[in-house]
Amino acid sequence: MKLCVCKNYDEMSRRAAETVSRVVREKPNCILGLATGSTPLGMYRCLVDMSRNGLDFSEVRTYNLDEYYPIKPTNPQSYRYFMDHNLFGQIGIDPDNTHLLNGEASDPAAECAAYDAAIEADGGIDLQVLGIGGNGHIGFNEPAEGLICETHLTALAESTIEANSRFFQSSAEVPRHALTMGIQSIMRARRIILLASGQNKRDAITGLLNGRITTSLPATLLLLHPDVTVFCDEEAYRG
Ligand code: F6R
Repeated sequence: MKLCVCKNYDEMSRRAAETVSRVVREKPNCILGLATGSTPLGMYRCLVDMSRNGLDFSEVRTYNLDEYYPIKPTNPQSYRYFMDHNLFGQIGIDPDNTHLLNGEASDPAAECAAYDAAIEADGGIDLQVLGIGGNGHIGFNEPAEGLICETHLTALAESTIEANSRFFQSSAEVPRHALTMGIQSIMRARRIILLASGQNKRDAITGLLNGRITTSLPATLLLLHPDVTVFCDEEAYRG
């Protein structure tokens, strides 16, 4: 696992965007795995600027990590809405090439199985972008005695509901469930970058860098992956 400590959020966002742009330039029809939440917003702004300066996303295909369940794609809190507004609508990507789990699926298990099959049929993810929860979750793989390999329906941890309530009127409005790529679905990506910013990520990053794998800090499973780079700012890094 490589570590890149950046002096602040802007530098972290720029350096992560440079990594994504290199992958897109080297392989114009690459497959990106993408995350939502506050952390990657700066990186997405950089990618929008790069696209205005010629970075071509016309052949890129994307698969997002997760989506609330149940939720309509038109709900401003849905991850489909987030991605359309913060990235996809501004980089000239073909909307048909952007994939998110369907938060309205009547059969969530079938939806999840089809999602994993579609990623595999597409050739697998070249670069997966991850954030990290304050509790160490990746995607919505929450700390637990055991972690699920494949994409699945999961209950959100109380701390995740609390953390994400900042996007809603109240925590009562936060969906209690989500569809999320599983640990193995994430680990199949050829390359992974994980972004972390701010003091509330310190414990999770410290735990990750300790080098001990535990399902009570799901991000530590990434220690088994051959090509992971952690981009974090100084606040998230306890040096
Ligand atoms: C989002 C996701 C989550 C977030 C994590 C951090 O697609 O999979 O794991 O990356 O909850 O969220 P922020 O960046 O809002 O602190």
